[in-house]
Amino acid sequence: MKKRSTLILLNIMLIISLLALAGCAGTEKEAPAVKEEGAALKEEAKSDGKGVVNLYTDRHYDTDEELYKLFTEETGIEVNVVKGKSDELIERLAREGQDTEADLLIAADAGRLHRAKEKELLQGIESEEVLNNVPENLRDINNEWVGLTVRGRVIVYSKDRVDPSELSTYEDLTSDKWKGKILVRSSSNIYNQSLLASFIAIDGEEKAKEWAKGLLANMAREPKGNDRAQATAVVAGEGDIAIMNTYYVGKMLNSSNPEEVKVAENVGVFFPNQDETGTHINVSGVGLTKHAKNKENAIKFIEFLSGEKAQKQFAEANYEYPVNDLVEPSELLKSWGKFKTQNINLSKLGELNTKAVEIFNEIGWK
Ligand code: FE2
Repeated sequence: MKKRSTLILLNIMLIISLLALAGCAGTEKEAPAVKEEGAALKEEAKSDGKGVVNLYTDRHYDTDEELYKLFTEETGIEVNVVKGKSDELIERLAREGQDTEADLLIAADAGRLHRAKEKELLQGIESEEVLNNVPENLRDINNEWVGLTVRGRVIVYSKDRVDPSELSTYEDLTSDKWKGKILVRSSSNIYNQSLLASFIAIDGEEKAKEWAKGLLANMAREPKGNDRAQATAVVAGEGDIAIMNTYYVGKMLNSSNPEEVKVAENVGVFFPNQDETGTHINVSGVGLTKHAKNKENAIKFIEFLSGEKAQKQFAEANYEYPVNDLVEPSELLKSWGKFKTQNINLSKLGELNTKAVEIFNEIGWK
């Protein structure tokens, strides 16, 4: 009799564990809730009581969504996503004030994250794990945002017409030998504003202004188009050299458009200032919103995204470099070689943004 009741008990335990497993499998299939800008996020906790984290992001990659799913599988915390342009998302956060449902803001460029900080929309991220994962120069001085992936703003050159031995520094691009040969986008773009801000931080305002003037004097045409358009113009022969972000070369090489692939194959990537101040870098990063309702979950999510497991995938989704030193970049990025980066805290890019814009306006870089 005793033996029989033990058997029944074992059977009941087996059924309970099978039910539990089925429950897990159920959550595995759940995709993150993705909404476009303007949509509302739900705050209610899931039935398992683990809750949610609500994210505003300007990134648009399927691989990011796979990571959100993985986070849900690991923690039971559901990730709700609103996608939009970063400036619109920042505006929305400001408009919503303390009623916002967003816990996190992900944006490309430290300058943009700094805008959110200046508007007092963020708060410090208190997590030893995050501080260990992200080097100090890649986060805000009060840790209101931290970098998650790194990009370089580099020199891209025509493989046909430029020998890389002719290239050296950003400053060299202002010398007479490059007259009428440089392609670069408008100064209204934040990447150029952050580049000039980095020169102000390193060399001071006067030298930065001289550089901007010298570059303007060597431009092949009036600034127009995005970063990719500069590479396209190099290959079309409008100029020999472009300034652009590293990941666009990766995106073009892997593009479904054969024209873009052809362009990327015909340009070389050069990391300037290797014997001097280093190549300019920037980040895609994440800020913790001031009025986060799911703060604990949000911090767990930042720990996850900056952690070893997620870093490689997160960076590779956009052909970027991981921030976490323990993680190696992708094969393509490794093929470009290691490079020395500027040694400044990226907060400076935001702090000096206004000054950079003033210089661009003063010297007439459209
Ligand atoms: Fe970009």
